[in-house]
Amino acid sequence: MNDSLIIFDTTLRDGEQSPGASMTREEKVRIARQLEKMRVDVIEAGFPSASNGDFESVKAVADTIKDSTVCGLARALENDINRCGEALKGANSGRIHTFIATSPIHMEKKLRMQPDQVVEQAIKAVQWARKWTDNVEFSPEDAGRSDLDFLCRVIEQVIKAGARTINIPDTVGYNLPWQFGDLIRNLRERIPNADQAIFSVHCHNDLGLAVANSLSAVMNGARQVECTINGLGERAGNAALEEVVMAVRTRQDMFACDTRIDATQIVPASRLVASITGFAVQPNKAIVGANAFAHESGIHQDGVLKHRETYEIMRAEDVGWTANRMVLGKHSGRNAFKSRLKELGIELNSEEALNMAFARFKDLADKKHEIFDEDLHALVSDEAAADHEERFHLMSLRVCSETGETPHAVLVLMDNGVEQHAEADGSGPVDAAFCAIESVVRSQSDLLLYSVNNITSGTDSQGEVTVRLNKAGRIVNGQGADTDIVIASVKAYLNALNKLMGGEVRHHPQTPHAV
Ligand code: KIV
Ligand code: ZN
Repeated sequence: MNDSLIIFDTTLRDGEQSPGASMTREEKVRIARQLEKMRVDVIEAGFPSASNGDFESVKAVADTIKDSTVCGLARALENDINRCGEALKGANSGRIHTFIATSPIHMEKKLRMQPDQVVEQAIKAVQWARKWTDNVEFSPEDAGRSDLDFLCRVIEQVIKAGARTINIPDTVGYNLPWQFGDLIRNLRERIPNADQAIFSVHCHNDLGLAVANSLSAVMNGARQVECTINGLGERAGNAALEEVVMAVRTRQDMFACDTRIDATQIVPASRLVASITGFAVQPNKAIVGANAFAHESGIHQDGVLKHRETYEIMRAEDVGWTANRMVLGKHSGRNAFKSRLKELGIELNSEEALNMAFARFKDLADKKHEIFDEDLHALVSDEAAADHEERFHLMSLRVCSETGETPHAVLVLMDNGVEQHAEADGSGPVDAAFCAIESVVRSQSDLLLYSVNNITSGTDSQGEVTVRLNKAGRIVNGQGADTDIVIASVKAYLNALNKLMGGEVRHHPQTPHAV
């Protein structure tokens, strides 16, 4: 029988480290539910000591998820580990993941620690984490550039101290597939107690090799892969979950292991993550890109019609590509709406929230006859964004756009409960609306990205807009959806401003350790 390959998803932690991809607690819980439905083994929900908000998000995921292990990240520091242990208290199955850097450059320049001190701190961290749980994972950060003998020494010691998963990160995406595979084989062969731990890998995609490196590690005995939906993650991202899972499944002739992932949940997970983070999936992205199963050339189409396997190695439906299913319409009642939300893993926390979402659903159904799952996700995200506790809230918008005339926007918004009126000209209707907002808000931010995607097909589809703003190095994404893309744009802009001008400062996990 084949071994199990553990899928450890870090979309909610490393994925969230992509600039602007920060997620709210409610969004994290929604994604975690989808990951659980997909049968992900371990969900890394965040870094609890980054901020109170991060702590609450990890706690909410730990309290909600029942069928996957929920993991929190902690630097090799007592306080970080305690915070992580606290956040995971409610988990059915919890894991503490602690790490410290082991490469010469990180130890000398970042940590300013001697190798012996690093070994000592790693041991203490694992022992400390073991006071909270038996399920402890240890990562030697930047293992891909660490000295092999030193890595063997650290890992042997942390296994002795009680780590049961040893994760080997290629933190800067420097390794090549055969080299990374050799590293895993060498570690497993040379470390005397290697058989007491599961070896895991965590590859970054700086050279576009994260998936190849992960698969090479699996060929050499790694039995856990850390990955993210759509390959989201710090800089060029992490190994894409969908690619790792489908490579192992499609090439069972090569791998002595398989995952327990329900692959039909891959496309819904990809869409959910793209819509929540605003990181759109490129059309030619493997497995989840819009063109991944589209055959354009006549020769290919002819081949596929004659015999599918001439040009297809996977079936689109096996990874969750089904035609948009009409779920609800104008005549659907509150119960049908509520139960479809439940099936999608969306739970609104009060009857009032449900009533408000249902009222928005009815408005949408008046404009758009067929309401798909994607529309419901956007509607709920929009409902959360329009939360009346947020500082800025759109009340009304009027835009004039006519050939030969300068576009002009007039809007009313609430700023901390105070009504503000604004108007401005712009080079187009969206520009005019944004200039009107800025005339009263004066955020002093730069617009880094403005993108519009249709949520479903057809001109009556909702447009989903992402706006990315940067203020003094703090980057946030805002989203908004509406059948009118100018309104969607304004909602997205206000959503970004709400994040930018509120919220707490978060610490990055890979900042130096205070010793
Ligand atoms: O890339 C990395 O090294 C990490 C560790 C914290 C596992 O994300
Ligand atoms: Zn990472």
